[in-house]
Amino acid sequence: MKQGSYDIREGFASKPPLQALRSKALRRAGSVVLCGLCLSGFMLAVEFMLIPVRLQPMAQPFYRIAFCFALPFRFLLAPVVRDGGAVPNHLLFTTLTSFLAVGLFFAVYKILRHFTRSEARPERDGETIGRRVFLRRASSGISLACVAGIGAEGALLEPQRLAIRNYALPIRDLPTSLNGLRLVQISDTHYGPFVSLAYLNAVIAQVNALRPDLIALTGDYVLKSDRALEDGVVIFRNLESRLGTVAVLGNHDHWESAARCRQLFGEIGVPLVDNDRLYLSAAGFTSQLDNPESVCIAGVGDLWTDAVRPDLAFADVPPEMPRVLLSHNPDVAELPDLDPFRVDLMLSGHTHGGQVRLPIVGSPVVPSRYGQKYSGGLVLGPAGPVIVSRGVGMALFPVRLGVPPEIGVISLERA
Ligand SMILES: [Fe+2]
Repeated sequence: MKQGSYDIREGFASKPPLQALRSKALRRAGSVVLCGLCLSGFMLAVEFMLIPVRLQPMAQPFYRIAFCFALPFRFLLAPVVRDGGAVPNHLLFTTLTSFLAVGLFFAVYKILRHFTRSEARPERDGETIGRRVFLRRASSGISLACVAGIGAEGALLEPQRLAIRNYALPIRDLPTSLNGLRLVQISDTHYGPFVSLAYLNAVIAQVNALRPDLIALTGDYVLKSDRALEDGVVIFRNLESRLGTVAVLGNHDHWESAARCRQLFGEIGVPLVDNDRLYLSAAGFTSQLDNPESVCIAGVGDLWTDAVRPDLAFADVPPEMPRVLLSHNPDVAELPDLDPFRVDLMLSGHTHGGQVRLPIVGSPVVPSRYGQKYSGGLVLGPAGPVIVSRGVGMALFPVRLGVPPEIGVISLERA
């Protein structure tokens, strides 16, 4: 028989070793992909079955697992099935990250296999083969343990490990009566199948313990469920601050129902400042400027789902008055529309720090046109300083790794 041809009795034995190895690897990869897709499709069905109960604390862990496994299948269905306006975006982010996680597993596995193989190659006696089997099993065990450890950290431990980030910002023209104002920012609480009410109550207790003068909420209070709107917004009734709480809406609030969100915020007495403003003095908030010793607390609509109108937000604000601007999406800092306006500090959320941050490469997935720039923390934008909260909840996928949830404590200092 010609060298390299396939024989039904001899299989690939007559092929050159490299070609036989390649065919075997291809067949194996094909079966793995097929099995993976079948599992993923099944998990998508499980995820859909869990939709009616996904807000129940007991159902949440199962929903999260099914959601993660269903990602590849969802990605395949993306061109034909649309589940809300921006799903292709989300699917792309989540799928890329899940592929990265699988890639990481295989990388660890392959590295370990490489070392164990090269050690065992010289001899083929019984003892060496026994050692090879042991080393192969050990490398699989170590890879699995690594993935299980990283998974437990990312899915169970880190999402609950709330960090407090402190900032001190010098503000020009800040009235003496507001010097040292303690502003606490929380963002992206995302009540829904990934985040429980018990966790959000713990976050609110922590915020209250910080004794804030002012609390700023920078959007995305729900995830994947209009039924979550009620509890996800009404929970902010428990926030306590000396001068008040102010908020803007995020893209998820618009996707579920901006009208219902506005109604609920109205019921709990928290003003929304989307394309609007309030004046803050030592006595509290007013909608009309009646005390020159004030700071303007303004907001703009969400960049993806609403109009961004700084002209409305800053209408009639005296030029010498300092301004804090709330914008859910930090990319607003780069808009030319903002150029004519004075902004002393912008507060944003939305990017969640990418939710997964790897050593050296940073966050692989950041929902921003400016890459890593607005992934989290204090950033100098064209219009001024921007504090980007990494958020307290999860949205893209039920995992946080290297990006713990956070509460921002910002002290405004007279410059
Ligand atoms: Fe968000």
